[in-house]
Amino acid sequence: MESDAPVPVARIQVTLFIMDRKHSRGGKAYNPETLALGLGYDPFLSEGAVKPPVFLTSTFQFENAEAGKRHFELAYGLREQRPSEIPGLIYSRLNNPNIEIFESRLAAWDGTEAGAVFSSGMSAISTSLLALCKPGDVILSSAPVYGGTHYLFEHVLPKFGIESVSVRAGTQTAEHMREEADRIGAERVRMVFIETPANPSNELVDIEAVAQLANNLAEAHHRPVYSVVDNTLLGPVFQRPARLGADLTLYSATKFIGGHSDLIAGVVTGAKQVVDQLKLYRTILGTVANPFTGWLLCRSLETVSVRMRRQAKTARRIATLLSTHPKVRNVFYPGLMVEGHPQHEIYRRQCSGPGSLIAFEVDGGEAEAFRVLNAFEVFRLAVSLGGTESLVEHPMSMTHADVPPEQLELYGVRPGLIRMSVGIEHASDLECDLLHALDAI
Ligand SMILES: Cc1ncc(COP(=O)(O)O)c(C=O)c1O
Repeated sequence: MESDAPVPVARIQVTLFIMDRKHSRGGKAYNPETLALGLGYDPFLSEGAVKPPVFLTSTFQFENAEAGKRHFELAYGLREQRPSEIPGLIYSRLNNPNIEIFESRLAAWDGTEAGAVFSSGMSAISTSLLALCKPGDVILSSAPVYGGTHYLFEHVLPKFGIESVSVRAGTQTAEHMREEADRIGAERVRMVFIETPANPSNELVDIEAVAQLANNLAEAHHRPVYSVVDNTLLGPVFQRPARLGADLTLYSATKFIGGHSDLIAGVVTGAKQVVDQLKLYRTILGTVANPFTGWLLCRSLETVSVRMRRQAKTARRIATLLSTHPKVRNVFYPGLMVEGHPQHEIYRRQCSGPGSLIAFEVDGGEAEAFRVLNAFEVFRLAVSLGGTESLVEHPMSMTHADVPPEQLELYGVRPGLIRMSVGIEHASDLECDLLHALDAI
């Protein structure tokens, strides 16, 4: 029977199509691969569309003035969220269904309470650091980190009175960070920031040990100290930092999560209380991603596991070929961290797969590396990584050009080093192309 009662305006992103995130039969939790296709979206609020529509709107109509007031109170943190209260949609710089659906799905992948999407990996990093640090604070960071992150630490944050101290990525990073903390005054440390595997050296840092260090410093000095992991290279499929105690997991979603080299985005996941602080800064700095990017990210998250596993399988073959090639001096790839390798123990504990980013040093310097780079026919000469197509680049003169060469040398980044991102092309075509390129020297 038809009813004249007004239809309640429901919030799409919180009506969980897959209720309670678990099977009715037996109560077993759904896996993230399954949640990535259903969580956070009810088709019957969108004409039955199986895929979420793109909510291309800058602003949202309030049911009434009281609702608008309630939504703003929550958005600006003016009061606590009531149990079962749903934050309302206001304006797409604050929130949007496409963004929120993706946030809930990636948080499920990472096993965290909440997520926040940004317009790029760099805006995810810079917004997080500005939200959580203040003048006088020190960030202990692993090195190397992505060139843009390095620039932020070296040239931007000091203008806001935030200092960073870098410690070489490796098996002993947590111990060395502890020594640095004692040297500079442990009470000043606000954050430990690590990138593992490091870009481009693939050096691993022990996430659990670094998270423990942050907890110890927080307890000793009675103030929050955040452990933050840039999980771009292995996450969300092969590494879950939150399970190892990290407070925030951060990504350039431009890479594996986006996966098709057709978008720029970033994302952070963690406890709701911390992610809410980031969202407030995101609102004010205006660093949120647009709705269509949110839609593309949802599309991509559905296949992230399939893509990353296939890419890693091919990358293992390529790394093995490189490691036996006479014109290759060194190969840096987590898949080669087998028993006896100094980083094997960390790899075994925190990574469930090796990913598909390989760095290798050719016999010679920049001239030889350039000859090889210019000879590839299938691999494209371009920066970025994690897309369906295979890419190669020269870290020293491209992605890490801002880092002083003496510093890069310390991290094993020398003029002959090439970084390679393995895509989903047929493995034998990539092998043949690699052999052809190495023939150039
Ligand atoms: C490890 C890592 N973190 C962060 C970034 C920055 O991400 P975006 O280019 O999306 O701003 C990159 C980019 O290459 C990266 O490789």
